[in-house]
Amino acid sequence: MQFTTSSASASQITSDCLIVGLFQDQGFDDTMTSLDQAANGILGRLLETGDLPRAAGKTLILHSLPGIKASRLLIVGLGKAEKFNGIAFTKAVQAAGKALRQSRAQSAHCLLADCPVSDRDDAWKLRQAAIALAYADYIYTATKKPKDDAAPATDSVSFPAADGADTQLAIASAIAAGVQLARDLGDAPPNICTPVYLAATAERMAAAHDGLEVEVLDEDQMAELGMNALLAVGQGSVNPSRLIRLSWRGGKEGDAPLAMVGKGVTFDTGGISIKPRELMEQMKFDMCGAATTIAVMETVARLKLPINVEGVVAAVENMPDGKAYRPGDIITTMSGKTVEVHNTDAEGRMILADAIYWTGTHLKPAKMVDIATLTGACVVALGHHASGIMTQDDELAEELLAAGHGAADRGWRLPLWDDYQEQIETPFADMKNLGGMPAGSITAGCFLARFAEGQRWAHIDIAGSAWQWGKPESATGRPVGLLVEWLANNAGGWGSI
Ligand code: BES
Ligand code: MN
Ligand code: ZN
Repeated sequence: MQFTTSSASASQITSDCLIVGLFQDQGFDDTMTSLDQAANGILGRLLETGDLPRAAGKTLILHSLPGIKASRLLIVGLGKAEKFNGIAFTKAVQAAGKALRQSRAQSAHCLLADCPVSDRDDAWKLRQAAIALAYADYIYTATKKPKDDAAPATDSVSFPAADGADTQLAIASAIAAGVQLARDLGDAPPNICTPVYLAATAERMAAAHDGLEVEVLDEDQMAELGMNALLAVGQGSVNPSRLIRLSWRGGKEGDAPLAMVGKGVTFDTGGISIKPRELMEQMKFDMCGAATTIAVMETVARLKLPINVEGVVAAVENMPDGKAYRPGDIITTMSGKTVEVHNTDAEGRMILADAIYWTGTHLKPAKMVDIATLTGACVVALGHHASGIMTQDDELAEELLAAGHGAADRGWRLPLWDDYQEQIETPFADMKNLGGMPAGSITAGCFLARFAEGQRWAHIDIAGSAWQWGKPESATGRPVGLLVEWLANNAGGWGSI
């Protein structure tokens, strides 16, 4: 989807579709009033009869209105004006985008950024509108082609011309491309999206972007380093494990990087502690932390952010097998700490233990964030609206919460108090990989914290936010927005795009 600008007035825009918004508790704004005048009062009459959509997310498309050059007028309900914040705005644009996607329009002009949003400025609204429209336009096509009579994608969307609009739209394009990559990777089936496939994706990206470098460690190299916890999880699979590192060197040489570490379990059967058959297919999404990490690196490279960033992915498949690791096994991690396996389905923390330790000691980041579909308990705690943020570093927590607010890709903090640590004690090793029923997301975070000692580190559990349930289950591309915003904030701006 291409983004452009146009300075024509609303009724004079030649486009397949003009997109406008209407509050539930307010009359026409200036734009709607001018369109109504151009259309001889048709809109006003429809408003009186209650035919126009006004509740949040409701849409209506009117065709061939007299006096309006665009062939369609798409009206989206915005709900109550006082509740119209950044999240409501994003949802309204996505709803409009969905209606646009289902129409036969191939071009559009979007006026939604003119609507007042309580907590956001014009640059934000423009950027976010473009991101949300691209989001709604996305259709998975890797293994299924659209039907012949399916509505076409929207080729281009224009926005009102304004100072700096082109820059905002370029930023939006870079973010939208990252979100789309995360969704493509997340949605890809586990027989295609293997650890080697993720590595190949990273290699392709590095070849495409100057300044982006890649390093891939195979199982022998990881064994050499003592990454026994990561290797233990992958040893039951015929698909070999990989540690993938993408490096963006946009900052000064020698400046400590910001690092991301993504959980890339390309399929999680649970291993010997096998999962029930219902919904097991959803565990193809267990690499969404990896997808996010790779996707953020893509966006960072497109934005040319003036900082150093490292994206590390621990990629494995968790299978039951004669060679698989088992409950009762005690494994010496790269850090030297020993782990007693109580459940092979708590595999994410095993692979992240080594990946976090390697990132901390090898890459010496200024700050490090891991991203993982780590616990079903996080879905119980927060549902699908927020990613779970855990850290003992209050400043880093604030940074991530602020970035989530900024990107309308919210996180919410859970405590990582030492009080929870005793739940992962065992007489036989330094820790066990299971913390019992209470606070399952937090005890998983406590486990990871032991491998991030001495680091400024936070854990983001995306089990609820990385994909949406319903028909069909599909990756959301979250929390690409949150992390890109965090990196941009640390870079002091959006780069030289
Ligand atoms: N990948 C799952 C977490 C998950 C479950 C994400 C459901 C999204 C939806 C993870 O590897 C896992 O299996 N976690 C276990 C941990 C338990 C064994 C301590 C879980 O959540 O049940
Ligand atoms: Mn698991
Ligand atoms: Zn898992």
